Amino acid sequence: MLDLINNYKKEIDKLQINNASELEDFRVKFISKKSVINDLFKKFKTIPPKEKGEIGIKINVLKTIAKNKLNEASCQLKKGTVLKNDFEDFSLPPRTEDLGSIHPIRKIKNKIISIFSEIGFSIEDGPEIEKDWYNFTALNFPENHPAREMQDTFFVERDPDIVLRTHTSNVQIRLMEEKKPPLRVIIPGKVYRNETVSSKSHCFFHQVEGLFVNEGVSFKDLKDTLYYFAKEMFGKKTKVRFRPSYFPFTEPSAEMDISWKSGWLEILGSGMVDPNVLENCGLDSKKYSGFAFGMGIERIAMLKYQIDDLRLFSQNDIRFLKQFRGAN
Ligand code: DAH
Repeated sequence: MLDLINNYKKEIDKLQINNASELEDFRVKFISKKSVINDLFKKFKTIPPKEKGEIGIKINVLKTIAKNKLNEASCQLKKGTVLKNDFEDFSLPPRTEDLGSIHPIRKIKNKIISIFSEIGFSIEDGPEIEKDWYNFTALNFPENHPAREMQDTFFVERDPDIVLRTHTSNVQIRLMEEKKPPLRVIIPGKVYRNETVSSKSHCFFHQVEGLFVNEGVSFKDLKDTLYYFAKEMFGKKTKVRFRPSYFPFTEPSAEMDISWKSGWLEILGSGMVDPNVLENCGLDSKKYSGFAFGMGIERIAMLKYQIDDLRLFSQNDIRFLKQFRGAN
């Protein structure tokens, strides 16, 4: 019997299992109920007790060897099948996940927020669907101001008192109505205008509004703050220039340009909050003064990243967005 066991062991060692039918043959011969190993166990019962110890151990070892062979062979065959069917090469390094990236508009918005947070501005928010009062009237817009005309503003047909806000300046009014100065805030947000850039109409963009109201706020505070912003945003060597301008809700008003390549580029509107606006919000214009400013985030992103078409920001083209992975 020992010889028989040894021969089976050698046979298993040498055996090559190349396909499913050879695997099944192996299973029948060595593992199934009718296997040669089961025959060995049957014969085992008839041998003299003193030989049982050694032979019993050998048959059990043989049984384990057979089972391991079966498992190994079936794993190898499975791998081989996958290889053939799916053309998968398991030796290749794993594919890297295609992670998304932060949208350039959000990147610039975050940067603006962090610059102003450093100098004590807090972040506020307000509604995009707004009453005429907050978007226009309280901001001192004369009745015939062009921004009120149909081509600029999205009105709600059922209620012409409701508009999609055309700027973030609406939140200035809401905050001044609600809170007592000192107020030092920036308000990032989406704004809507019925402007047609080309065949595809572009009807929203992003702004950041700024407001500082307290006793004794001066035009110098406005200039210092915005100069600081320009240097943080565009680099220490950036120069700024203020040009007189007109906005209904600030007096005086100024547009700020930054030095860019060999010329000047306008990046924001600003001014001292008009006393009428303070009074509209219930603030004593003799006691308080303030400055405000507003800038378009798209404009700044276009400058910083040298993008020449506004529509790229909202088309969700992965080839465009991918380029901002890791950009500051
Ligand atoms: N709201 C203005 C616009 O959308 C931008 C602006 C200009 C905001 C001057 C201000 C400001 O707060 O003082 O064109």
